Amino acid sequence: MSADFLEKAIEKAQIDQSRKTINNPVETTSSVNDFVYTQTRIVIPNNEILQDRRVVTLKQYNPTADLFRMLRTKLLKQLRTNNWNSFAITSPTAGVGKSMVAVNLAISMAMEVNQTVLLVDFDLRNPRINWYFDFEVEYGLLDYVNSGVALERILVNPGIERLVILPGREKNKGTSDIISAPSMKRLIEDIKSHYESRIIIFDMPPVLLVDDVLAAMEYYDAALLVVEDGANKPEELTKTLQALSNTNLLGIVFNKAENLPEHQGGY
Ligand SMILES: Nc1ncnc2c1ncn2[C@@H]1O[C@H](COP(=O)(O)OP(=O)(O)O)[C@@H](O)[C@H]1O
Ligand SMILES: [Mg+2]
Repeated sequence: MSADFLEKAIEKAQIDQSRKTINNPVETTSSVNDFVYTQTRIVIPNNEILQDRRVVTLKQYNPTADLFRMLRTKLLKQLRTNNWNSFAITSPTAGVGKSMVAVNLAISMAMEVNQTVLLVDFDLRNPRINWYFDFEVEYGLLDYVNSGVALERILVNPGIERLVILPGREKNKGTSDIISAPSMKRLIEDIKSHYESRIIIFDMPPVLLVDDVLAAMEYYDAALLVVEDGANKPEELTKTLQALSNTNLLGIVFNKAENLPEHQGGY
């Protein structure tokens, strides 16, 4: 099995069972009364492009897809047990594969019958979810925040039932200030208020380079950490865990692992 396959892995570490509350509940003056799915743009991705970009979870028979399905099932159990329905995906440093994990997890969660998923590109500095599905972004989530563009004009359905993407459009700076803005809080309230049982996945920037993950902490119930096997130093991991100590850690995924078992026992 090639070295760059995703390794197994979720390790239950340090789970703080206390439910986080939103410190400053936002007044909802919602501009959007409902998600009108019939108006949501549908973009069907090309299978070969998905494959090239390591989006494997649409495939039935694929060892990496199996690992994601295992991870999906463990995470869903944790989320449901604790009554959490949003989580952030982050990492110590950049380029470790957070967005790849976010996309594959979102698909495999949505493939579970009855589970709806919203995947939010919350890496406002480097939005990339659309690259994985190979679509051009007409409007991104900051078009709602900065210019009041309606949510149904921004959302994209990638031809997968029960999965909707809230994409980002361009690279931005000073993003932790944007994250704390009242119009951003309104957006988060909007997306949360419509389908209570839907899981919201926030694909985020790394913890050690910018303060966006901390600034957004009131928006998500828990966090999943992605670490690049062999590349992230132990002290980076320690600092990251310290920074995330006020949220509920769902686990750690080791990506780009070198030492996968040669076969998985025929499963
Ligand atoms: N397991 C893997 N093996 C090889 N390359 C990978 C793996 N996971 C991700 N990549 C590649 O690494 C790059 C960074 O991945 P990305 O998901 O954008 O990282 P992040 O969101 O953490 O910045 C992308 O080009 C992606 O295709
Ligand atoms: Mg990313």
